[in-house]
Amino acid sequence: MAKIVGLSGSLRKASLNTALLHAAAKLLPAGTTLEIADLHSVPLYDGDVEAAGVPAGVAALKALVTGADALLIATPEYNHSTPGVLKNALDWMSRPPQDPPVFTRRPIAILGASPGAFGTARSQPVLLPVLRALQARVFSDAPPFYLSTAHQAFGADGQLLDATQRERLAAFLKAFIAFAAGD
Ligand code: FNR
Repeated sequence: MAKIVGLSGSLRKASLNTALLHAAAKLLPAGTTLEIADLHSVPLYDGDVEAAGVPAGVAALKALVTGADALLIATPEYNHSTPGVLKNALDWMSRPPQDPPVFTRRPIAILGASPGAFGTARSQPVLLPVLRALQARVFSDAPPFYLSTAHQAFGADGQLLDATQRERLAAFLKAFIAFAAGD
């Protein structure tokens, strides 16, 4: 039984990246679950707030991620980079430094969706030095998953319409789960 937590770098209800996480959840093998975290309750990082006590939303997010076997990050692309919402959540989870580390050796895979042609090919690599700094185990055993023209990619049931995309995503997830289960 593997438990994956999904982080979407978009807060909006109709997010293509959150939709991609929901589509991924439908493609997981039996015995693997994906719970999508809600980043609405994570405030902007402020050292003064941290000094007064980690906000409840951050503490809950840290507990969710700590209790998972692996983390699946769906990042949008904003100006060829990753959104502040996502970087802010990662920064908060790395604090305070005396807490047990949330990310050290944690298996993490990155994917992403964009209405554009590059499908987050420019924003995904931006996360790599961040995750390296956090000493995560970043998955790279499968071709990257970039979902381009994502505004046309999902059916009414939330599935990816294109069978090849579904197969690619399922293969990505299967390889990630195997990676996460190894050392
Ligand atoms: C974008 N968008 C965008 N898309 C892209 O492919 N490359 C980019 O550099 C940008 N830059 C960008 C900047 C800002 C500030 C916004 C708000 C948007 C479009 C973006 O991919 C699109 O809005 C996605 O739908 C955002 O992801 P969600 O919210 O659908 O998950």
